[in-house]
Amino acid sequence: MTISLERLRRCSIAVDLGAARTRVYLKRKGLIVDEPSVAAVNTRTGGLIAVGTLAERMTGRTPSHIRVVRPVSGGRVVDIAMAQRMLRFLVGNKLRRAWRRKPLVSAAVCVPYDADPLAERAAVETLTGLGARRVELVDSLVAAAVGCGLPVERPEATMIVVCGAATTQVAVLSLGSIVAAERVPVGGETIAHAVVQHVRNEHALMLPSQAIRPLHLALSGAGAAMDGTEVHGRDVATGLARSVQIDIEGIRAVVQTPLTGVLDAIGAVLRRCPPDLVADLAERGIMLAGGSAGLPGFEDLLRDATGMPLHIAEHPDTCAVEGLGAMLEGSVRPVILDPLSP
Ligand SMILES: Nc1ncnc2c1ncn2[C@@H]1O[C@H](COP(=O)(O)OP(=O)(O)OP(=O)(O)O)[C@@H](O)[C@H]1O
Ligand SMILES: [Mg+2]
Repeated sequence: MTISLERLRRCSIAVDLGAARTRVYLKRKGLIVDEPSVAAVNTRTGGLIAVGTLAERMTGRTPSHIRVVRPVSGGRVVDIAMAQRMLRFLVGNKLRRAWRRKPLVSAAVCVPYDADPLAERAAVETLTGLGARRVELVDSLVAAAVGCGLPVERPEATMIVVCGAATTQVAVLSLGSIVAAERVPVGGETIAHAVVQHVRNEHALMLPSQAIRPLHLALSGAGAAMDGTEVHGRDVATGLARSVQIDIEGIRAVVQTPLTGVLDAIGAVLRRCPPDLVADLAERGIMLAGGSAGLPGFEDLLRDATGMPLHIAEHPDTCAVEGLGAMLEGSVRPVILDPLSP
């Protein structure tokens, strides 16, 4: 993976293809797309019915001839053709005008730090299919750190934890590159799955995926009462619709269990770092980003377990694409140190 700021400045579009959301930044325009990475397809005709928010709302509510697909999974594009169709729809009109003035020459896309050559190839092909002649790959952790405003180019340690939909990445960066990093399969989706399983075991009720959000809100003290919140679902035995009062304290424990995997990753990364960098971190602390950074209790869990200062990014969910955007606009200092000229 190369990050040459010169080459990035020549890009006119930056794309973050996430398992949950797709974000597109257009140079001199800003964030033009922030939509769920979901497409709904008519299986009889093969035609695309909806993309983004509308397609997500169809999840679990479709007749047999409509299939809701997610072309991105676990940080990699798993269905290139569908990802291209989804992106073409999402950027559609917003890009056409800009394109007419200046044809798209280069695009930047962020990929996980441990992406294999096939995953990189899939990201490149998705963008070339959209008309990009050149595609620059950027490490999503470096992009997120830049988006959070961390001084990654300095010879000092910065630690970032990006908790997304399917995975959490933990890294220590210095001099614009990753010194040590770990990826654990914990994210918003894993936690939603754990909550669904808990309600199924405790109350014999199958929850719809849309019921998780109100529970998160109840956990953070917003929305519902703290002693219990009502959810609707399908009875496991009878199949009938039923409502139950959920004990919020029980949900709190369920949410915390998968998050301990992130603590192990932080420990593993710190053990691989030289003591100089770890000493920097004791003062500077950890930056928490990614859409799942707002999970109730996550911040306190990390702060209590590490004893280090903890900061949450200003825009935790969009920091990766904003970091890419800042590199495109040239508003950050060189990430790769240029050779000294005599
Ligand atoms: N306020 C919130 N509280 C709790 N969870 C949230 C909140 N907002 C979003 N999420 C969760 O964050 C996840 C999406 O995060 P993000 O946008 O970082 O994912 P992504 O970039 O598409 O995924 P990835 O980087 O893993 O491929 C979803 O699983 C969603 O449930
Ligand atoms: Mg992401």
